[in-house]
Amino acid sequence: MNPYILDIIYLVASVTFVIGLKMLSGPKTARNGNLLAAFGMTAAIAGTIIFHKGEVSGTVYGLIFGAIALGTVVGWLTAKRVQMTKMPELVSLFNGMGGACAALIGLVEFHHNVNNPTNIAVILAGMAIGSISFSGSMIAWAKLNGSLRKAIRLPKYNILNTLILIGITAYAVFIVASGTHDQMHVYLLFALSLVYGVLFVIPIGGADMPVVISLLNSFTGLAAAFGGFLYGNQVMLTGGILVGSAGTLLTLVMCKAMNRPLKNVIFGAFGEGAVAEGGSDSQGTIKEVSPSDLAVQMNYSNKVIIVPGYGLAVAQAQHVVNELEKLLEERGVEVSYAIHPVAGRMPGHMNVLLAESNVEYDKLKEMEDVNPEFNQTDVVLVVGANDVVNPAAKTDPSSPIYGMPILEVENAKTVVVNKRSMNAGYAGIQNELFFRDKTSMLFGDAKKVLSELVTELKNLD
Ligand code: TAP
Repeated sequence: MNPYILDIIYLVASVTFVIGLKMLSGPKTARNGNLLAAFGMTAAIAGTIIFHKGEVSGTVYGLIFGAIALGTVVGWLTAKRVQMTKMPELVSLFNGMGGACAALIGLVEFHHNVNNPTNIAVILAGMAIGSISFSGSMIAWAKLNGSLRKAIRLPKYNILNTLILIGITAYAVFIVASGTHDQMHVYLLFALSLVYGVLFVIPIGGADMPVVISLLNSFTGLAAAFGGFLYGNQVMLTGGILVGSAGTLLTLVMCKAMNRPLKNVIFGAFGEGAVAEGGSDSQGTIKEVSPSDLAVQMNYSNKVIIVPGYGLAVAQAQHVVNELEKLLEERGVEVSYAIHPVAGRMPGHMNVLLAESNVEYDKLKEMEDVNPEFNQTDVVLVVGANDVVNPAAKTDPSSPIYGMPILEVENAKTVVVNKRSMNAGYAGIQNELFFRDKTSMLFGDAKKVLSELVTELKNLD
């Protein structure tokens, strides 16, 4: 047997992670990228079990295979059943499990390493970060599924959180420096980190949970990387670093797209804006359009851009939107989709939804590319989007979303907005776009009214 077989497996697995991650950056390759990285992970786990050096008892093997079987069944069933709109919750839950694993490694390994201060430092760092990620993710999960609706802000919560964080760091330094063998200290540090994770997330508004989840994701990656360092396990180290850096980058990209400075995220002071009332309180009259009138209008257009938003996901209208696109194209209308980076409730939400209905990828246009196209567009059809097309983000400094880049649909010749009512979107603010002269409202559930629109278009033959 080649003595380097496990190292070779780890190397191959690490390469699949890197390539898989790269492939995840485009919708055409994302599915295969995911499969490739999953294959790498399976190979790394199997390789570790089969080629592990040293004695492993039958009981331990039993526990390992039992845990794998349990995890596979629960993970598989949950992922199969989850609705697309519930995906951020699932990511939060799974991320929390990753943090919990990293924390457990710390709890288990402490007494094996008491005479090695470097290892103890690594163990405590991984355990503290993993615990914060675990409890923080559980709170994020509760907020997303509605069990914990409000942002809870204790008096002086920022100062309190900072002090606890300093306390955790100081306590960890004390444990390493004192060379104590007392496991009690580790349990206390574990408890303190769990408390910090809770306090870190509870003040943040539900609107900003996906950013928090992405940040906690990067914490879990970091915690796993500490585990890899401890065990000298390259694949765990590479995987952890990749998750940590990808999570950090995603956090930064989302902050930029939502116009939230990262320092506010880190100090737990953000989220207030997104849930606050206020901003432009537009009044005025609105115009309504019927599916039959819109069908005629679209039929005579040269260029139509569809802007999907959260409502498209709620209504599950992705298939009917695709049908509408095909019908218009048959009539010589140029159709594309404008994708805002934070439309919906998770990164890539709209891309995933539209990919589900086999919309061609090259019809999806990113915000920077599509914005200059609106002034040559006859009809923009906004389907269940609100904040991402709110001009107040550019014009009203008092608006909670001021500064967020938006899809500049107001530059098109005609704007039609489909939603069920005049209710606000995620940011909780009115949208003056709905009251503009060139805007018409198409009220109703997206799936229902778009189906009517499709029928009307067919009737025009
Ligand atoms: P929103 O501003 O949340 O607006 C969605 C609109 O869809 C609502 O106004 C709602 O109006 C309508 N709607 C709901 N169900 C519908 C249905 N069945 N049929 C038709 N319309 C329906 O969505 P958006 O424009 O996509 O913006 C996303 C927001 O979420 C932004 O504020 C963003 O910052 C925030 N956010 C996004 C992310 C990511 S990563 N995507 C993460 C966190 C927060 P009615 O109730 O009147 O129908």
